[in-house]
Amino acid sequence: MKEKLELILKNATDEINNADNLQTLEDVKVKYLSRKGELNSIKKNLKDLSDEDKRIVGSFANTVSDKLFELISQKNDILYKKELDKKLNEEKIDITLPSDFRPHGKIHPLTKTINEITEIFQGLGFSVMPKEYSPEVETEYINFDMLNFPPNHPAKDMQDTFYTKVAPNVILRSQTSGAQIRQMLNQKPHVRVISPGRVYRCESVSARKNNLFHQIEGLMVDKDITFADLKGILNEFVRIYFGSSRPTRFRASYFPFTEPSAEVDVQCIMCGGKGCRTCSGTGWLEVLGAGMVHYNVLKNVGIDPEVYSGFAFGMGVERLTMLKYAINDIRLFFNNDTRFLNQF
Ligand code: PHE
Repeated sequence: MKEKLELILKNATDEINNADNLQTLEDVKVKYLSRKGELNSIKKNLKDLSDEDKRIVGSFANTVSDKLFELISQKNDILYKKELDKKLNEEKIDITLPSDFRPHGKIHPLTKTINEITEIFQGLGFSVMPKEYSPEVETEYINFDMLNFPPNHPAKDMQDTFYTKVAPNVILRSQTSGAQIRQMLNQKPHVRVISPGRVYRCESVSARKNNLFHQIEGLMVDKDITFADLKGILNEFVRIYFGSSRPTRFRASYFPFTEPSAEVDVQCIMCGGKGCRTCSGTGWLEVLGAGMVHYNVLKNVGIDPEVYSGFAFGMGVERLTMLKYAINDIRLFFNNDTRFLNQF
C-alpha cells in the first residue's frame, strides 16, 4: 500500500507539474483528492490493515494528501496569475479612446411641424392662445353646441366622438375648434390667434387615420375681415410651409361653424398634379378646413356679427407632416421607433 501511495504521489506530482491551465489542474485535484479520488479509495481500505500498518500507512496517506494540496495550491497561484496576465493583455483598454456615444433625445417630427407652423403664423401677426382655452377633455357644449352644430348632428354620434364617464356630455374633443369659443368668450376683437393641440376620434386605425391626432386651429376676428383675407393668409402659409412653387386651390365645403366654408388643397407632392395613388388620381391633396366664422357663432359668444366678422381654419398636423416628408403611414408617428424618429 505504501508503494501504491508513493506511486500516487509521483504521478500526481508529475501531472500537477505538467498542468498548463486551471481546468487541467482542477481535473488532477478531482482525480486524486476528491471523495471518489484515488487517495480516498486507499484511505477507505485502511480498515483491513493491522493496527500498526494502519498507523503508518494512514499517516503517510495524510502526508501525501497534504503534500498534493500544497502543490496544487502553489500551481494554482501560478496558473491563475498567468491566465489573468493573458486576459489583461488581450483585453487591454485604450483609455485614450473617446467614450461611449450617448444618443441625445430629438424633437418629435410632429412637434417640429407644430413649432414650424406656429412660427409662420407668429410672423403673420398671430399669437398662441393660452393653453387653458383648449382642454382635451371638453364639454359637448363647447365642442359642438356653441359651434352651431344642430342637436342631432351625426358628428356627435358615438361613431366619431369619445364620450367619457366623468360626467354626462363630457367628451374627448373631436376638434380644436372649441378653442375659438373660449378665446372669443374671453377676448373681444381684435382676435388673431392660433391653438395647436391633440384631438380624438373614435375611428378604426389605418395608414391614413389614427384615433388621436393633432390640429392647429386659427382664428381672426375684427372689423371688415373678408374671405380675401382668409385666402391671403392661407396662401401665404402654404407658400412658406411647402415652398413657393406649390399651387393651392380652395374648394367649397361645409362646416356648421363657418359660412361660407372651404377646404384647401395643395398640389400633390408625389406626382406634381398628374394624378397618382397618393392623391387618388386627382392631383390634389386636402390640407385644411376653413371659412368665415358663422353668424350664429359670433352671436353665441357675444360678439356683434353686424359689426365684426372673422375667419377660422383648422389644419391636420400629421397630414401636413406626411405631405412635407412623403411619409405614407400615420402610425409611424406614434410607434416611437427610433429608426423612424432619427430621420428628422
Ligand atoms: N374643425 C374642423 C375639422 O376638424 C376644421 C375647421 C376648423 C374648419 C375651423 C373650419 C374652421 O374638420
